Amino acid sequence: MSLKLNKRVEKIRPYIPGKPEEVLKRELGINRIIKLASNENPLGTSPKAIEALKKEITKSYFYPDDTYFSLKNKLSKHYNVPADWIILGSGSVELIKMAASLVLDEGKYAIVSKNSFLMYKKVVQEFAGDEYIIWVDTTDNYEYDLKGFEKALLNSGKNISILFIANPNNPTGSYIPAKQVYNFIKNTPNDVLIILDEAYVEYADAEDYESGLQWIKEFPNLFLIRTLSKAYGLAGLRVGVGIAQKELIDILMKVRLPFNVSRLAAIAAEAAIDDKDFLELSFKTNKKGKEFLYKELTNIGFKVFPSQTNFLMFIPSVDPKELIKRLEKEGIILRPLDPFEIPEAIRITIGTMEQNKIFIETLKKILKEFKNV
Ligand SMILES: Cc1ncc(COP(=O)(O)O)c(C=O)c1O
Repeated sequence: MSLKLNKRVEKIRPYIPGKPEEVLKRELGINRIIKLASNENPLGTSPKAIEALKKEITKSYFYPDDTYFSLKNKLSKHYNVPADWIILGSGSVELIKMAASLVLDEGKYAIVSKNSFLMYKKVVQEFAGDEYIIWVDTTDNYEYDLKGFEKALLNSGKNISILFIANPNNPTGSYIPAKQVYNFIKNTPNDVLIILDEAYVEYADAEDYESGLQWIKEFPNLFLIRTLSKAYGLAGLRVGVGIAQKELIDILMKVRLPFNVSRLAAIAAEAAIDDKDFLELSFKTNKKGKEFLYKELTNIGFKVFPSQTNFLMFIPSVDPKELIKRLEKEGIILRPLDPFEIPEAIRITIGTMEQNKIFIETLKKILKEFKNV
């Protein structure tokens, strides 16, 4: 390649998402695919969003209102923050990238937890370079270790400009209690940008879990990130919501591309936020399904990790790669966790009860075959 590539780009590997349903359909030539690999909403898209989309589709030739006045007003009421404390992204991944682009540069470091959302590493690689990542190990149970973050802040002697916290975390499903997160943020120097990624907040119900939304007023360096891809069922449309004090939002607006959320996505998001019934049903379906899968997988003898999200991480008693391969042959897609450096584990998105049951039956059948080998 003769292009004069930026040297940071060479080290970046393309992100590998969960296997798309269409790909497996093509590979196997079968129609019934159960994809439980990307933490999408198994109930589909909010009916209110679908109605809104149908009405808006003929206006697709128009650019969106680039101020996103209507959607931001809706979100402002929903989150109880001023509209100018909100920025929208084409999915929350775009917001993560925008935030990283503000502060990272060669010579400026980022603190990133091991076994967490892969996008954090990727954006640091892009805007500073691989060598500017300070990795913090997770605990023995693969949980975030904020003490490790504190140590990195205090003792590394490096120019740290950003850190990332996923709460709850992907792919582990674990969470950090509110008090710990609050104290950590309070003790973080205010020239370090804190990304608090709450992609799964709508599923979290632990008593000591709290969203960081209430702390935005107190911390000008806190950037809270939400998504409509999970509980609101809009993953295919790409809508992320970033919340911070106005001063930080104004700086983020400098790097935002115009019309970054499509007209249809913005209309659907507005309707989805209003669809309280869908949100409640999504939560309840997830909770029931999670309890069912947790129990069944534990009974089978797998190690299953408690989860505050719409997925479960488990360590099977057989080779995870082989298990995933055999499940795919039966049309069931799960997520291998070697990219997250937990090759011994697998992640499963909680499906509808029907999907969960089919998965468990298929799994039991496959395990018998393992034993017969
Ligand atoms: C922790 C976390 N943050 C952000 C995202 C990105 O979601 P989206 O870009 O669809 O909003 C995901 C997606 O899986 C995630 O797990």
